[in-house]
Amino acid sequence: MKVNFTETVLRDANQSLIATRMPFSDFEEILEVLDRAGYYSLECWGGATFDSCLRYLSEDPWERLRKIKSKVKNTKLQMLLRGQNILGYKHYPDDVVRLFVDHAVKNGMDIFRIFDALNDFRNIEVAVDETLKQGAHAQGCICYTTSPIHNLEKYVQMGKQLESLGVHSICIKDMAGIMGPQEAYDLVKALKNSVKLPVFLHTHSTTGLGPITLVKAVEAGCDGIDTAISSFSGGTSQPATETLNYALKQMGYETGLNNKTLKEINDYFKPIKADYISEGKLDAFVMGTETDALNYQIPGGMLSNLIAQLKAQNAIDRLEEVLIETPQVRKDLGYPPLVTPMSQMVGVQAVLNVISGERYKNVSKEVKAYLRGEYGRAPGEIAKDLEKKVLGDEKPITVRFAETLEPVFEKTKKELGDLARSDEDVLSYIAFPQVAEKFFKEREECESRTITYTIKRKQEDSK
Ligand code: CO
Repeated sequence: MKVNFTETVLRDANQSLIATRMPFSDFEEILEVLDRAGYYSLECWGGATFDSCLRYLSEDPWERLRKIKSKVKNTKLQMLLRGQNILGYKHYPDDVVRLFVDHAVKNGMDIFRIFDALNDFRNIEVAVDETLKQGAHAQGCICYTTSPIHNLEKYVQMGKQLESLGVHSICIKDMAGIMGPQEAYDLVKALKNSVKLPVFLHTHSTTGLGPITLVKAVEAGCDGIDTAISSFSGGTSQPATETLNYALKQMGYETGLNNKTLKEINDYFKPIKADYISEGKLDAFVMGTETDALNYQIPGGMLSNLIAQLKAQNAIDRLEEVLIETPQVRKDLGYPPLVTPMSQMVGVQAVLNVISGERYKNVSKEVKAYLRGEYGRAPGEIAKDLEKKVLGDEKPITVRFAETLEPVFEKTKKELGDLARSDEDVLSYIAFPQVAEKFFKEREECESRTITYTIKRKQEDSK
């Protein structure tokens, strides 16, 4: 049996270990080698990479995608798309979602892994539909979480819903790395018995369960797993590619991976990792095993965010209270999976509750929007008293939120005028207005400096 490997070093490993600060120039030279290693796909775009390119790296994310595509000619490129949220933190109108997918395909994307934080599949319908229309691979996600209302039966139902949307494959997305080996085995088995699609598993090494969980998933018939080349594996990143390749081959599985090429890739990334450590971009903390996440059932990334928030408010001594408050807030909100943007929303509210000394004395703007139904349907019941307190007599919307949004692409394109040079620029602007505008202006300045410099040089040369 063949197990497909998706390499995450360019996206999730990059995002989970060094806050997505890897510039294109750090991996350009290894792209052709990655292309011939035998991976099923390279996860290289989407998630936080788009925002990070514009905000921190002065890179055009679209240009990055085109450059990757020009070097990776055989292996499929894969991205993570937050459904109706695209790559941002709120819902966008349908015209933007469709155009975003169109342009991603045009610029080289092959596989769209699409999720909604609430597993409200109305919020991925449009993205899936457009991916299918464009002839690309649509992979629908089930965001994995544990709660009194989440069980195998519910996950199987979700799998069937995804199948009826017409996706090509299903990904079980364990963003927190809390899925144990037996849970993985049971869930993969149940899905394989009830849907006809390939099943992929995405997890993290955060709690140390990752590699064991992946092996058990494969034993249950899982078709593909996500791993990261070893120098960028472990901790909050994925389990190591070479380790899983070694173990699965020993167990009689085919992986299609070439050991020598994997070594070449790892040797390339080792000194880059060393640089990140010495520059302080890579913190030892994220490389370790964090079993507290198993007790608190909150993702490692969320834990470090909570710590940062409390430190900023000089209230780190309240951490224990916040960790106890977090599951309460999550319960009141109907047990959303703790993935972007829900993890931030639940965390911020738990901090507010503890610091203000009274539960829901202050309710964040995002939680209010959530209660109004602007993020979709809550997985479970929302606490009645909280709903009453925030909404009063206002009724939450029950339609898909994007139905209430007007198209914005053409309007924005007109407004931007010359500032945007392409439809891709317009999409970048819609996703991250201030950040994109700043990037466009810098790009302009940088180019005019280069032109002035070249003219000066030419004048001097001709003297
Ligand atoms: Co992940």
